[in-house]
Amino acid sequence: MMVFAMRNILLALTLSAGLFAQGQGGIRQLPDRKLWVIDTGLSTYVLGVNDRNELQFQHWGGRILRDEDLPPARSSAEWASFDSSQSRTAEEYPGWGGIRYIEPAVKITFPDGVRDLVLKYDSAGIGQNTLTVRLKDIERDVFVDVSYKVYPGTGVLAKSSVIENKTQQPILVESAQSGVWYMPRGTDYRMTHLYGRWAGETQLVREILKPGKKVIESRRGNTGAQFNPWFAIDAGDADENHGRVWFGALGWSGNWKITAETTSFQTTRVVGGFNDFDFGYKLSPGEKLKTPQFYGGYTDRGFGEASRILHRFERTEIAPDRAHPHVRPLLYNSWEATEFAVDEPGQSILADKAAKLGVEMFVMDDGWFGQRNDDHRGLGDWYVNQQKFPNGLKSLIDHVNSLGMKFGLWVEPEMVNPDSGLYRAHPDWAMHFPGRPRSEARNQLILNMARQDVKEHIFGVLDKLLTENRIAFLKWDMNRNFGEPGWPAVAPDEQKKLWVQYVRNLYEIIDRLRANHPGVEIESCSGGGGRVELGIMERVDQVWTSDNTEAFDRLKIQEGFSQVYPAKVMMAWVTDVPNMNGRSTPLKYRFLVAMQGSVGIGGNLNKWSAADMKLASDMVAQYKGIRDTVQQGDLYRLNSPRDPSGLTSNEYVSTDGKQAAIFAFYDHQQYGQEVPVVYPRGLDSSATYKLTPGQTTLSGSYLMNHGIQFKLTGDYDSTLLVLDRQ
Ligand code: DGJ
Repeated sequence: MMVFAMRNILLALTLSAGLFAQGQGGIRQLPDRKLWVIDTGLSTYVLGVNDRNELQFQHWGGRILRDEDLPPARSSAEWASFDSSQSRTAEEYPGWGGIRYIEPAVKITFPDGVRDLVLKYDSAGIGQNTLTVRLKDIERDVFVDVSYKVYPGTGVLAKSSVIENKTQQPILVESAQSGVWYMPRGTDYRMTHLYGRWAGETQLVREILKPGKKVIESRRGNTGAQFNPWFAIDAGDADENHGRVWFGALGWSGNWKITAETTSFQTTRVVGGFNDFDFGYKLSPGEKLKTPQFYGGYTDRGFGEASRILHRFERTEIAPDRAHPHVRPLLYNSWEATEFAVDEPGQSILADKAAKLGVEMFVMDDGWFGQRNDDHRGLGDWYVNQQKFPNGLKSLIDHVNSLGMKFGLWVEPEMVNPDSGLYRAHPDWAMHFPGRPRSEARNQLILNMARQDVKEHIFGVLDKLLTENRIAFLKWDMNRNFGEPGWPAVAPDEQKKLWVQYVRNLYEIIDRLRANHPGVEIESCSGGGGRVELGIMERVDQVWTSDNTEAFDRLKIQEGFSQVYPAKVMMAWVTDVPNMNGRSTPLKYRFLVAMQGSVGIGGNLNKWSAADMKLASDMVAQYKGIRDTVQQGDLYRLNSPRDPSGLTSNEYVSTDGKQAAIFAFYDHQQYGQEVPVVYPRGLDSSATYKLTPGQTTLSGSYLMNHGIQFKLTGDYDSTLLVLDRQ
């Protein structure tokens, strides 16, 4: 025993790289069994080279700390002549080749018509928290570097791959996935994911996985509001606080696909990466194709902990301010107040009023440029409209700054209205197939940003805007999805690259802008939450959750959003009523719903009464007192808006444990029923907390075990309880 233990300590010391330590995790190699153990600090992932020299999955789940326990990888036996060993073996990155029927990780057509790719282990290297395993086709010089990156201590591991053509001929990659995640063998796993549409994003759905495939995807050119590239899988028994949950999230703002496949052999595997629909990426000799990052994690503490792991990871490893996280400024946005009718006097008056409420960033939305008086014209003409702003933007920006606020501006750089100077000058810049219709949506076409000249033009316009004006923030909008994605300027066999190159160029533009203008912050918006995932979130500071700002609808939208993304990036505006659904909710309710994220005010302040303004100032002050806790703390979803009781409550606990904020909402009281008791979580049992309002002091044990009975009545009642540790 002793000898084994010593041997493994030595192995770990000599062969591990990065920060491997029992507490934090890292990557270690067990050469005697051809295995790699990836420890995220909260979970363990094991893969190895099997008896056929294939890269094989071994374990994804709770931590395994003793290397002796791990057996070498062994391929699965053939079941029948119809069910090959290859198709039954849990390969980490299977090519489509041999006798394989499972969803492949990569599929290639060679110029001689061969469509068989069988990948075997070639070599491996461990770097700083990374493992790269090189696979090679059994006959041809096609290589795949399958990469694993661990973020020690976070519970998260990222998979991606690089496909390289080292043959003398071009090859056509028809499917390129980031990786495959395997569940332990079992049946009736449940998949949780988010679906939606414009004004109804991030709706939570939980469904049993029966044999077959469940596909969520985007074919729209951007992430899409219809599905979000995230999954959580449990064995059917997990809830918010208990149970095993395996989860993953893709970072790609273009066409993506996640397939959960349950085989006839009780294997559930999740494959994700570029959408293979209309995919055809030609790789010339020497060229490489890199797939998006596919992040994954595991917990045995339910969906709530899965979310907290992701939130922490995104705040500390993904967000642009990850090195020095700071809270988001409270902003005002003019869109719902003025729509396109923006001008200097009108915006200045709104700015005066916003400043009085304690707003920190004043954002002017659509309508400030070109002939943009409605949504029929102007997109593409990014010069200031002289009728509306005779003094340019400077005079308004100076005024906003003199009120102690920063200035932000709306742009939609990827779009063009046919009625614009830009389109008249460059009709060929719009995405199109020659001789075919150019279908408009919201009267606009998409610029083919895959083109080098279009990319440089868009970068130049934005760079100039930011250089010439004191702009602290851009709201980057995208109000339609792709249609007729033609790229006639390049050879036909290169045209499908548009799907990938467009997104790469989007990322490049944002990266260059941020490098040139380090103080500028960005919001990703696509008519609401149509471009929200970890690829864009590496580059933007916040995202627009939904154009639906109706507070009651928001509870569910925000519940879905919070499964994956932290409160800090979730823009939530307080707007006027009646709103969507013709519904009117009290101003306090609207504020409290928004205060669970990063608050914006989007109402027409000219119409707000003195009492509204007073309540709003109080709510803003209250928010600033808990904003750090909400934005940077841990979220506990205590009562779901899907719960039939009509009570929704969420709790945020600061990372230092000194404060907790509990929000509660009661939608429709009936029969005089009182709301169910709410049980806070994540408090220190032995500490005492001062409650505001109320000023009583109660212990963490009492609060968590006895619970809180909120007094909520009528329709759309709400409250906020703040607990400050004594
Ligand atoms: C869609 C966005 O989601 C809105 O907030 C607003 O910016 C409009 N576009 C402006 O056209």
